[in-house]
Order: sequence, then C-alpha cells, then structure tokens
Amino acid sequence: MSAVIAVANQKGGCGKTTLSMNLAGVLSEGGLKVLLIDADPQASAQQWAMRAGESGMGFEVMTHPHEDVHRKVREMSAKGYDAILIDCPPGASQSVASKDSQTSISRMAILAADVVIVPVRPSMLDYLASHQLLPLLREVGALKDKQRVFIVVNGKSPGRTRTGTEAISVAEEVFRIDGVDVEVLRSEVTTRQAFVLAPTVGKTVTAYEPEGKAAGEIRNLAEEIAKCLQATAAV
Ligand SMILES: Nc1ncnc2c1ncn2[C@@H]1O[C@H](COP(=O)(O)OP(=O)(O)O)[C@@H](O)[C@H]1O
Ligand SMILES: [Mg+2]
Repeated sequence: MSAVIAVANQKGGCGKTTLSMNLAGVLSEGGLKVLLIDADPQASAQQWAMRAGESGMGFEVMTHPHEDVHRKVREMSAKGYDAILIDCPPGASQSVASKDSQTSISRMAILAADVVIVPVRPSMLDYLASHQLLPLLREVGALKDKQRVFIVVNGKSPGRTRTGTEAISVAEEVFRIDGVDVEVLRSEVTTRQAFVLAPTVGKTVTAYEPEGKAAGEIRNLAEEIAKCLQATAAV
C-alpha cells in the first residue's frame, strides 16, 4: 500500500502545487517510487512536469481532476508506489451540502489520505480563510482515526521579521480546534525565487539548485513530516 498525502486548502495561491511537487521531488530523490496526482482542473502540476521534457521529474505525474479521485488512488496504490501525493484544487469548503465539484474533489482526496498537508500564507486573514477546512477534516477524522493533518506556513519573508516570528505561534492558536489533531510544522518555507524559477525549467527546487536555500527548506520540511510520522508509529 502506498502512503497517501493530500495537499489541500480551499484558498488558491497558498502553495499547494509548489509544496506537493517539491515534496514529491525530495521523496523520489530519497529513492522512493512516487506518483503525484494532479487533481486540479487547472493542471498546473501537469504543465510544470511537461516542461521537464524527456528527462522527466524523477517521479510520475498524472491528471485526475475528478470526484472519484479516491478510486484512482486505490487503483494506483496497487501499482507499487511508495507514496502518492494529491495536488488538490482550490475549494474545499465546510458545507457538506456544497455541490461544487472542486470541493468534492478535495473532500474525496482528503478521505483517501493518510496525511493531509495544508499550506497557508503567513497572514491572519489567510489563516481564518483556511480554517474553513477544519470542519471537513473533523468529519473525515471521525471516520479515520489515524489521519494526520499538518499546517505548513508558506511564504514568510526570509530572515527575522515580525510577521515571520509570530507566524507559527499565531497559526497554532488559530488552528487549535476540538476533534481535529492539527499540527503546525516548525519548518520554514520562505519566499524564494527558486520556488518560482524551478517550474519554468520543469524542475523541483532540489534538482534546480541542490545546494540552494529553497532546497534546504523543502528537505527540512520533508524531514519534519517524516519525524512526526515515525514518532506516532513508534507509540
Ligand atoms: N515559497 C514560495 N516562494 C516564492 N513563490 C512561491 C512560494 N510558494 C508559492 N509561490 C508562488 O505563488 C504562486 C501560487 O503558488 P501555487 O503553488 O500555485 O499555489 P496553489 O497551488 O495553492 O494555487 C505561484 O506563482 C508560485 O510559484
Ligand atoms: Mg495549484
């Protein structure tokens, strides 16, 4: 069985595609067989991967922007992938009555996932908007007691700034909610040019500039996630 990681947030532009593609890169560089399912009809991940041309990304990318994404995950999970990441579309509002198809895609992706990563921009308004995802996570959590939810603050300015220093503690306060075990990760993913430039040449940041700061940030993030998962596995 593959480890299934959904990268979701109903807000557009918070870094879902950036983080899912770069995490997929780090995992595949670590020797894992990785698939990224681009579940966003905008297909940014797919377009990014197409820029790699023949050399490829080091992991596979397929599009499946449909509400039965959970079935696709199950089908692909039988094919020997160590990890399957799902890059979700924007739209995963709390309303169970919502018929919005993008919301349904995210909901089904979250249902299929062992781990949910929620990128958020370091601003209170963005935290509050992202907070709307939590009732959905609570709903899913009631069905799946082993699911882990990690908030990643993405896009702080590098260096010590007031918004930067406070970002993680404010996020911890905002995302504390009964019934959902949400962890705000401490790894910093800051605003860096490499995150913007790497996709233009069909690369992830670790392939684009292996010794660069963006690459270091993504490796630290992957390591923190792995440590959190190992810590629970050991209990
Ligand atoms: N840490 C970062 N540093 C610089 N640019 C970033 C960073 N994270 C995301 N971006 C840029 O912000 C925009 C939105 O990011 P994206 O990953 O497409 O968000 P989403 O998939 O949530 O809509 C893109 O242009 C992306 O290159
Ligand atoms: Mg995206």
